[in-house]
Amino acid sequence: MKMEEERGLTRIGVSLPSNLLSKFDTIIGGRGYSSRSEAIRDAIRAYIIEYEWMERESGDEIGTVTYIYDHSQRGLGDKLTEVQHHFLGMIKSSTHIHLDGENCFEIIVIQSDAKKIKELTENIMSLKGVKHVKLTTTHGGI
Ligand code: NI
Repeated sequence: MKMEEERGLTRIGVSLPSNLLSKFDTIIGGRGYSSRSEAIRDAIRAYIIEYEWMERESGDEIGTVTYIYDHSQRGLGDKLTEVQHHFLGMIKSSTHIHLDGENCFEIIVIQSDAKKIKELTENIMSLKGVKHVKLTTTHGGI
């Protein structure tokens, strides 16, 4: 899906970890992109669409937030616990899985107003060392 026609092009310089870039290049190679720029544009569009979807959601919802985080990141485990305690009433369940030497996987089941779910998800997303945050929601009672 293409968004409305963008006008003009602006060049930006971005610093990325080399392993992140090489994985990205491998994936876009396999998907037939002719240029890295086009793939990055599509990735940014997908990010915007995801954000706009989160913005539009409303009413009581049930869903999950999943994410991976680096447990060796100083203070991160405590911050994640703090966020979950802050949103206590809406968290129905959580599961923690130790993935490997440095990564942990967590899944939180939430039921609340969509705006609060978005707030919780954005709080988690904004923490340094948290990767692959995924939010899924559905409406109960339909
Ligand atoms: Ni762990």
